Amino acid sequence: MRMVDLIQKKRDGLSLTKEEIDFIIEGYTKGSIPDYQLSALAMAIYFQGLTSEETANLTMAMVESGDQIDLSSIEGIKVDKHSTGGVGDTTTLVLAPLVAACGVPVAKMSGRGLGHTGGTIDKLESFKGFHVEIDNEEFIRLVNKNKLAVIGQSGNLTPADKKLYALRDVTATVDNIPLIASSIMSKKIAAGADAIVLDVKTGLGAFMKSEEDAILLAKEMVEIGKNVGRNTVAIISDMNQPLGVAIGNALEVREAIDTLKGKGPKDLEELCLTLGSHMVYLAGKAESIEAALAMLKEKIENGEALQKLAIFVEEQGGDPNQVLQPELLPQAPYQVQVVSPKAGYVHSIQAGELGVLAMILGAGRETKEAQIDLSVGIELLKKIGDPVQEGEALAILHMNVPEHPAVYQRLLDAIAIGATEPSVPPLVYKEITPYY
Ligand code: URA
Ligand code: CA
Repeated sequence: MRMVDLIQKKRDGLSLTKEEIDFIIEGYTKGSIPDYQLSALAMAIYFQGLTSEETANLTMAMVESGDQIDLSSIEGIKVDKHSTGGVGDTTTLVLAPLVAACGVPVAKMSGRGLGHTGGTIDKLESFKGFHVEIDNEEFIRLVNKNKLAVIGQSGNLTPADKKLYALRDVTATVDNIPLIASSIMSKKIAAGADAIVLDVKTGLGAFMKSEEDAILLAKEMVEIGKNVGRNTVAIISDMNQPLGVAIGNALEVREAIDTLKGKGPKDLEELCLTLGSHMVYLAGKAESIEAALAMLKEKIENGEALQKLAIFVEEQGGDPNQVLQPELLPQAPYQVQVVSPKAGYVHSIQAGELGVLAMILGAGRETKEAQIDLSVGIELLKKIGDPVQEGEALAILHMNVPEHPAVYQRLLDAIAIGATEPSVPPLVYKEITPYY
C-alpha cells in the first residue's frame, strides 16, 4: 500500500477500507508516514468527509494505536461520561458519587490538564490528603467495593489521536465532525468504557457554537458507538452561560456537595439528573429512564449520594469531614462583591470570558507547570433572566489578593444587563439515543 494512493482516493471522494485506515494510523503512529502526508489526508477528509463505517474504523484504529485499559475484573457495565467542555462544569463531581450510589461502577481515569479550572483530580485535591496515586489493583478493588474510585492517567492511551489532533490544530482541520467524533470516542473506548454518555455543549461558551453542529457531532458519536458495540447516548446542553454558579476548584466541590444534598443550583441539578438517568439505565440498574431518574432522586433525598462521596474521599486518603462540613474546604482570604451599575435583567453571561477570569485569579493552569490555587474563583449570584437592582451584587470574586480591578471590570463587561425581561435559553435541547 502506498500512502499517496490513499490520499488520492480520499481526495477523489472514494471510501477507505478498514485495512487502508489501519495502515494509515499504524504508519503514522510509528513514524513511517510523515506529517505532510497525514496533513494532505486530513484536508481531503475535511472536504470529502468520512462514511460512518470509515469513522468507526478510524476510531478503532486509534484505540488500538496504544494501551487499552482493561476493566474486565470490575463487575458490571462500566459507563463513562464525557463533556465536550464547558465553563465551571461540575457535573463529574456530582455524577460520580450519585450514580455509584445507584450501583453503577465508576472507574474514573482523570487528568489535570490545562484550562479555566483544574481537572477533576485537582478539584478533588481540595479534600486534604486526597490522592490518586493508587495502583491498578487497588483501583479495581475500590471500584468493586464502593463502586467508585479515581486514578491518575497513566499508560500510553491513543497516541495516534494525540499526534493527529496536534497536526489538525496547525493544519486548519480540527473543525470536522467525523474527526472530532472519532477523536473523542477513541479516548473513551481506550479508557475501558462499555457504554458512554456524552454531554455535548452548545452555545457561545462551547466548542460547538450552533445547536445544529452540536446535534451533528452528537449523532456521529452515537453512530460510532453503535458501530463498535459501545452503547452511546448524547445530551445536547446549553453553554450560553456557565453551568451552576461556581467556577473554581474548591468552589465547585462545595457546589457539588450542595447538589448531592438537593440544595444545589437548579440547572446543575437538572443536567446531572438527565445525564445520570441515562448512565443508570445503560448500566442496567433500572428498567427505564423514568425509573432511573426516580432512583437518583431517592439517593439524593436519603443522603446515600453524599455518603458515597464521603466514603470515596476517605478511601483515597482524604478528609471526609470536609464533605459533611464543606466550610472546612479551602477558602480564599478575600471575597469581593461585583455590583451592578444599573437595574434591569441579566441578558447574557459570557461563559468563556468568565473561565479566563477564573484562570487569571489562579484557578486554572495556562502552562503545564503552573501552580493552581484551589480556593479562588468566581461565584455567580445572578443568571440569565434574573432581575437586578442598581448596586446589587452580580457575583463574588474569591481571591488571594485584596483587589483586582482589571478582573472586576472584565467581569462586569461579561454580564450584559438589559431593560426588558429576556427569554431564558433551555438547559437541555435534545437527547440523542440509539434505542428510541
Ligand atoms: N476534542 C477532542 O478530544 N478532539 C477533537 O478533535 C476536538 C475536541
Ligand atoms: Ca459550576
